[in-house]
Amino acid sequence: TMGKLENMPASYARIAVEPLAGVLGAEIGGVTLAGLADDAAWNEIRRAFVDYSVLVFRDQALTPADLMAVGERFGAPCHYPFVTGMDGYPFVFEVIKEPDETTNFGGGWHSDTTYLPQPPLATLLHAVETPARGGDTLFTSTRAAYDALSVGMKRLVDGLVGVNSAALKSGGGRSAMHRNIGAMKIHDTDRADALEAEHPVARTHPESGRKALYLSRTHTIRFRDMSEAESSPIIEWLQAHQTRPEFTCRVRWMPGTLTVWDNRCTQHNAINDYHGQRRHMRRLTVGAQTPV
Ligand code: SIN
Repeated sequence: TMGKLENMPASYARIAVEPLAGVLGAEIGGVTLAGLADDAAWNEIRRAFVDYSVLVFRDQALTPADLMAVGERFGAPCHYPFVTGMDGYPFVFEVIKEPDETTNFGGGWHSDTTYLPQPPLATLLHAVETPARGGDTLFTSTRAAYDALSVGMKRLVDGLVGVNSAALKSGGGRSAMHRNIGAMKIHDTDRADALEAEHPVARTHPESGRKALYLSRTHTIRFRDMSEAESSPIIEWLQAHQTRPEFTCRVRWMPGTLTVWDNRCTQHNAINDYHGQRRHMRRLTVGAQTPV
């Protein structure tokens, strides 16, 4: 008898979809996003976003206004608390590492701004200038990671609530960030302690209905009703588990590459392996949503 074809995405007519790895990530071809008005194409892009969690579009010439318009297709723009936006585009900020800098922004596994009550469902990152080699970004499927847990571990995480903070040293260390990332317009890092939010450790994706782990060593201090000492070994184990190589994909950037990722069921990690070269990206987050 035929088995149920569970994770088989339906076919696409308006876009070309080339999976990047076993469980997440796809390169999307056949579309020019600037000014794209074809709603059928956008519906397929949104469907691919739910199926693959990380979408990579190559050779996209996008002004900040175009980036805003693409973002609107996924959700309303969100404000990032620690970096000033571009002139005229307060929601778009520049992620820059100069050749003489050694600290990067977004190094270490995390989902974006989980210390906010309503974190953005998607992040858009558009490459302006990229190193000749290095500076790739890793992504992992926290949905595949949840699925791979034992019944007992699922029962445990299903009952946990994470306390997430912007202040954690492992979160890139906001004060270290302030000192070392000279090219970026970073501010208000002394406010990091104040940004804290509680979210379910296993959250349910509103569109796919699938559960995913939603905690990180970078932002999760402890679990509600538990001490840091009690929480820490569980956080460490889950972090190692959810970044197992078979749950990941890797995006190599070129100028014009746009990646859109789903913060509800992925984490990412910007690899800092390109000292001496410049990397310049533009970032926008959209779709504030309460994790459930
Ligand atoms: C980020 O964490 O938003 C930055 C990712 C990157 O620069 O690759």
